[in-house]
Order: sequence, then C-alpha cells, then structure tokens
Amino acid sequence: MKVLVIGPGGREHALVRVLLTDPFVREVHAAPGNAGMAAIVPTHDVDANDPLVVTALARRLGSDLVVIGPEAPLAAGVADALRDAGIPVFGPSRAAAQLEASKAFAKQVMASAGVPTAMAMVATTISQAEEALRTFGAPYVVKDDGLAAGKGVVVTEDRVEALAHAEACFAVGGSVVIEEYLDGPEVSLFVLSDGQHVLPLAPAQDFKRISDGDTGPNTGGMGAYSPLDWAPAGLVDEVIDRVAQPVIDEMAHRGTPFIGVLYCGLALTSRGTRVIEFNARFGDPETQAVLARLRTPLGGVLLAAAQGGLEKIQSLTWSRRSAVAVVLASENYPEAPVTGGRIRGLKKAGRLEDVQVLHAGTAVADGKVVSAGGRVLAVVGLGDDLESARRKAYEGMSLIELEGGQFRTDIALRALRGEVRAAGAPPASAAAFPQGAEA
Ligand code: AMP
Ligand code: GLY
Repeated sequence: MKVLVIGPGGREHALVRVLLTDPFVREVHAAPGNAGMAAIVPTHDVDANDPLVVTALARRLGSDLVVIGPEAPLAAGVADALRDAGIPVFGPSRAAAQLEASKAFAKQVMASAGVPTAMAMVATTISQAEEALRTFGAPYVVKDDGLAAGKGVVVTEDRVEALAHAEACFAVGGSVVIEEYLDGPEVSLFVLSDGQHVLPLAPAQDFKRISDGDTGPNTGGMGAYSPLDWAPAGLVDEVIDRVAQPVIDEMAHRGTPFIGVLYCGLALTSRGTRVIEFNARFGDPETQAVLARLRTPLGGVLLAAAQGGLEKIQSLTWSRRSAVAVVLASENYPEAPVTGGRIRGLKKAGRLEDVQVLHAGTAVADGKVVSAGGRVLAVVGLGDDLESARRKAYEGMSLIELEGGQFRTDIALRALRGEVRAAGAPPASAAAFPQGAEA
C-alpha cells in the first residue's frame, strides 16, 4: 500500500513513523511535511489545504490511501475532493468535520444524539453574553465558535475577561458559545470510524495550558501521556456506548457520515463523563504518545475505516508500556511565536533508547534544522511505567537546545503521584482498556 499523509505537524510525523513500520505499507509520502518527516520519507511542498492540489498529488503518486492530519484541509473539503476522485481517504467530509469546525453544530448533534455535555448558550451580542454568564456563573467558559486550534477558549473566574473575549469574537463577526464549567480530569479518546462502526484507540491525557501547574493561556497541547492508570474501569466502553456510537449514528442519519477519527475530549466530572469538545482529527500531541504504544499495523486499520469494513477489526493491540510526550514550543508561544531559531541536539536525543523525537514546526535552512512554528517538536519517552517513560522524555528534552524554547516540566507528574482521580469513580483497573493488551 502507498500512503500519503497530509499535514505539517508532530501528529503527522507520528503517523508517518508508525505507517513505515506496517509490513503492508510499501511507501509513505507526506505533504507538506516538516524537517523530521523529510528525513524519513519523500515530502511534497504543496498547499495541502487545496483540494485540487492534494487530489492531483495523490493521483500522481498512485496513493492507495490518503490520511489527513489537521483540521484545516478537512474544513477546506480536501477529503470530499479525494473521495469524489475515487481515492480512499481517512478523514471526514467538510460537512462531517463541522463537528469540530462549529461548536454550535457539535452541540446540536449531541442534543439530537443524547450525548452528555456541558449546558451551553450561543451568544452573538454582548447582552446575550452577559445573560449567559449570569445563567452559568463562575468559573466562566467562553468559546469562539469557529476553528481556533484549542486557543479560542477562555476559562476564567474574571467576568470582565470573559466578556472581553466574547467582545473580541463579535468584533470579527463571530459568535461565542458560553457554557457551564466542567470539573474533573480531562481525557482524550480517539475513536476511528468508517461512518458506521467504531474502534477506539487507547485513552490519553493532554496538557492544554502553556505553563506548569496548568497555568497561563490555553495552547494546542504541551504534552500527553498514555495509558491512564487512574481512569475508571469501563471508561472506553462507556464513551463508545454513550458518546461515539450515538454521534456516528446521528451523523449517518443526517446523511453526512463521519469517516475518520472522532476525537472525544471528555471531562470526568463529579456528575459523570461529559463531552467538552469533538475534533474531527487525531489530537496533537496525544497521538505522539498513543501511537508509540500501538502494536497493530496502522495502515490496514485506517484503510478499513476509509473503505468501510472496520467491524472486521475487533480491537487494537497495545503495548503495556507507558508513553510520555513533552512538547518544546517557541519563545512567546502561543501569543506570537518567535521562529527561525537553530535547534541543536536532535540527533543525540533521537539516538537514545526508548526516545523518539517527533518534529512539528521545523524546517531546514542552510542545511540546519530551525524552528518554524509555535510548537516545534515533541520528545516521546517510553518506559515500563509512567515514571520511567517520563524520565526518558525529559532526558531526551535535556539534550535539545532552542533559544527561548519553552516546555512544561510537569507532564504526567500528578498522575505519577496518584493525584489524578475521576470524582466518584471506582479505583483504577486494567479493565479501563478493553482492547487487547500485551506485555
Ligand atoms: P475546547 O477548544 O472546547 O477543547 O476547549 C479547550 C480547553 O478549555 C479544554 O480542553 C478545557 O481544558 C477547557 N474547557 C473547555 N470547555 C470547558 C468547560 N465547559 N469546563 C471547563 N473547562 C473547559
Ligand atoms: N491536543 C489537543 C488537540 O489536538 O486539539
């Protein structure tokens, strides 16, 4: 099988890396890719958000499967164009990707499908916003109703700040979703679908805020780990039954089947599991941690999702080892990232056993690898337990140098200390992972 991976980030580097280990995958290409992908597969410097360009590239390469990583090409209709051209594609249509692109749409689908989520109100004026803030009380949650890569959300105790965010969204002609605050730890669960059937990956936890102790502004994600030993038994089954399958059924019922990966962003609250958000793609950097543990060859699984027939795959097989991904971000990320800085130590870190260096915003300039985006790379550490995986990730990170670069020092730390707990949940158990697992 020849596979073309669309996207420039760490998630795509992880996908490429794992696809290369699949014995049925003969060739992997990436577009546009980054410096890390360019070192292992041919990359194509094209506008990956242009449906015609991507379709032409896939045709020229004779791709048997196109895997779309980021949300932007999905929202631009790249999957639709490929499907129209008869090329198998893993990634939802523009219509189905509305689950991510519009938070208001996602709320409607959840309401129709009976999926538990935060109560919410849509506001297009300041007086509506004020009323919604009054209704739900503090802490306030105000979300830009559009694609914002996780950065359009303000969670704050400060009513003035909440209103200012709403005002900023209205100023550019947008609307906001204001909702009830969800307490409890967050979980990212990726569920593959062929439009009808579902197949879960292993759950992970993401770290959204820029700084240690979950402080500072929201980002695209500063780190992740998997598995979640603290997660309640049966979590994955519960999310499949109460969230993923109902949403997939509802999308099919609406005539816009969802083919690809439904990212279920969940809060395990004191009143039960609630959906915080959906994304129409793999999460970044959760994918880097999750795929490091995957044993089942990925190419055939994604092809089964793209072509139908996912029910033939009963479950995925996972390593029992832990994976921790720590993101290195540019100076001034997420506000105004400084790019173009030389990155040193990549080879040294990559040579360590049980360490992977997965590039995100990197490029090659004058033969040297330089930063080219907000999130620059992730170091993934693998270990027999969370502690050793964490140690490996930070050992790798300590070898990498980027002027002004920032990374969190507390990825997976609270879990390691036993401080993460789902309110009212039964104790941790391996039964939280009903998929086949092996040592
Ligand atoms: P979203 O873009 O909807 O995923 O939101 C980004 C982040 O904001 C989430 O991962 C949460 O950390 C936080 N967040 C969003 N909605 C809520 C909510 N209703 N209650 C608490 N935190 C939230
Ligand atoms: N890590 C969060 C996301 O991919 O949206």
